[in-house]
Amino acid sequence: MDVFDKCRHMHPAKALIDVGFNAFYRVMQSPPDAEVIADGRRMIMLGSNNYLGLASDPRVKAAALAAVEAYGTGTTGSRLLNGTLELHADLERRIARFLRKDDAIFYTSGYLANCGAIAGLAHRGDCVVLDRQAHASIVDGARLSYADVKRFRHNDVRDLERVLASCGESGKLVVVDGIYSMEGTLAPLPRIVQACRTHGARLIVDDAHGLGVLGRDGRGTAEHFGVEDGVDVIVGTASKALPAVGGFVAGRREVIEFLRYTGANRAFYFAASPPAAAVAAVREALAIVQERPALRTRLWTVTRRVQHALLAMGYDTMGSQTPIVPIRVGSLERTFELWRALSDEGIFVNVAIPPAVPAGGCLVRMTLTAGHTDAHVERVLDVLERVGKRIGLIPGGGDVVAEEVVALRASA
Ligand SMILES: Cc1ncc(COP(=O)(O)O)c(C=O)c1O
Repeated sequence: MDVFDKCRHMHPAKALIDVGFNAFYRVMQSPPDAEVIADGRRMIMLGSNNYLGLASDPRVKAAALAAVEAYGTGTTGSRLLNGTLELHADLERRIARFLRKDDAIFYTSGYLANCGAIAGLAHRGDCVVLDRQAHASIVDGARLSYADVKRFRHNDVRDLERVLASCGESGKLVVVDGIYSMEGTLAPLPRIVQACRTHGARLIVDDAHGLGVLGRDGRGTAEHFGVEDGVDVIVGTASKALPAVGGFVAGRREVIEFLRYTGANRAFYFAASPPAAAVAAVREALAIVQERPALRTRLWTVTRRVQHALLAMGYDTMGSQTPIVPIRVGSLERTFELWRALSDEGIFVNVAIPPAVPAGGCLVRMTLTAGHTDAHVERVLDVLERVGKRIGLIPGGGDVVAEEVVALRASA
């Protein structure tokens, strides 16, 4: 048996990609703004996480450029040893102040922040309790922790209570997403906080998609629900509303200080720290998040317009309440078909297929941003109405499938 034998069995999506449905690894030739150049074509961008449109903000870019001048391009080391710049320490203080926590610790990515925080805080003999649709980085952090990992039904707080009760006297750590990244729904935080209190569990909220987006002041899902005091630890990313790269964990002083010194926080120690340009960009973007609430207002105006229009057309947007707007399609083939039809019309969207979603639950995922103009929005809605009818996803049209799909189905 050769371990490489498996390489001959590709993901089923590869067959579609091979016949021209190139939904992955598209080559971008511009910043992730409301319009992009992708594979040489100008397109309306509905596939970024640039929620506040800050990825090419002049202030953010200037901060990054100045940091490169001052500190060079890379730190060449981990935070523990030679990779802590004064910029990192300053950003950690600012993140903590923004999130109203005692302290914060800045990682090289949000993925690593979840891995480090969960494996750092939950050890053998503890119980880590996750929503069934928790982000992959949460699942991987739990796997790395050596704790007993249990799952509860998505957003079902009664099931969470049942699972917590089954953990007995073990230390209990509940980890949820604030906004679920594929379907755009919110975790019911007030009831989750209550369940954690009742069962003596600690709560981490990964608010990768909520920070900068939700809450009057952009402090995320916990601010939105008014339960910031009930959330022990907030994990965030610097790859979305704060548009660079990096991740952070904010919480009580002793918890963050423990993470700085526990060997179980391997994702922190054994990776080079984020470069100065990224850290300076995040610092500037964080200031803008606080200074310009109008960006959030615009994001929500665009979001509501699109959400209402799609529901009125008859699309299944999976109960999304946020700028993440999914369209439930189902099969791989039909999902790629919708993707292709939108792409042909100059609209860049993403597909979500297993393992990002359950089998048969494929969807097209769109994200809205403060940078989208009314003209972008109306053009997208017009296309979605025509395309949805044409391929039979919404009422009012025939079921005409793309030539390649016909060929693919015939050959299956
Ligand atoms: C919910 C959630 N958590 C964590 C991450 C990881 O963040 P990063 O891109 O900074 O690694 C993401 C990004 O995909 C996410 O959607």
